Amino acid sequence: MARSASPLLEQALADTAADIDRYFDALLAVPADPRARLYEAMRHAAIGGGKRLRPLLVRASANLFAVDSECALRAGAAVEAIHVYSLIHDDLPAMDDDDLRRGKPTVHKAFDEATAILAGDSLHALAFDILADEATHSDPFVRLELIAELSRASGPAGMAGGQMMDLAADGQGFDLATVTRLQQLKTGALIGWCLEAGAILGRIPHEGRAALRGYARDIGLAFQIADDLIDVEGDAAVAGKAVGKDADAGKETFVSLMGVARAREQAHALVDQAVAQLSGFGSEGDLLRAIARYVVERDR
Ligand code: IPE
Ligand code: IPE
Ligand code: MG
Ligand code: MG
Ligand code: MG
Repeated sequence: MARSASPLLEQALADTAADIDRYFDALLAVPADPRARLYEAMRHAAIGGGKRLRPLLVRASANLFAVDSECALRAGAAVEAIHVYSLIHDDLPAMDDDDLRRGKPTVHKAFDEATAILAGDSLHALAFDILADEATHSDPFVRLELIAELSRASGPAGMAGGQMMDLAADGQGFDLATVTRLQQLKTGALIGWCLEAGAILGRIPHEGRAALRGYARDIGLAFQIADDLIDVEGDAAVAGKAVGKDADAGKETFVSLMGVARAREQAHALVDQAVAQLSGFGSEGDLLRAIARYVVERDR
């Protein structure tokens, strides 16, 4: 648990983790046929573990607009499915070649590479299946906007594009502007979707979402700086994943470019800026304010 987390945040993190575990547990019942191994691998990755930050962001954003909690949970599960797929593939030998994720063996270690690829593919598809279902929202235009925005945030103009830049970063000597762009795609795009999703479910028009977009941009960058700091200074047993990988790979990150102290300062400045974006909201914005602080204070 993060140092100095607020009780409001602690409760929301715990509730979201329990809800997401329950949701995937029900959705991923293992069939009694040769696909069982695929479902087992999906369950290994998707159930039990992770901070569930993205579903929490959807929930916190949805709370601003009095969205039904089941709709928000489904949208949260969709983005978590994309995130988990991205982690499974990120850990593959062809990418970061990691053995530990969320304190457990990575999927290709616990199963095998082919199963890990298919588990990722299946979680990717599942995300859109969840959003397309009318239980997510009665209005098909709302569902379509969620789907269109999540496709963009996941694909070449979002997470996958950022991952490509990240692979290209090895030994390339990227500058700060390029690293910022990389992180905005790799990490920021999905986080941006989470904030947007609450507003889409609440039928807030595009023009009404500027503050949330600004908040998402700021915490997205702060989140990635914190991830880079954990890679440099963190403890694998606490983080639940290997550390020291970025420097080994010769990757430029915020920390390698700015140094630990300035990177941490920058992350805190981004959090202050994110909180300032919420000035138009009253106490209903408190959870988003607490999340912004947690994003940089976390140690896992
Ligand atoms: C790790 O994400 C990968 C990045 C995008 C930096 P999280 O730090 O949210 O990982 P989990 O979901 O808690 O495992
Ligand atoms: C991966 O970034 C981000 C994804 C889109 C999966 P990292 O490679 O830095 O994530 P960790 O450190 O392995 O969690
Ligand atoms: Mg990576
Ligand atoms: Mg990695
Ligand atoms: Mg990392």
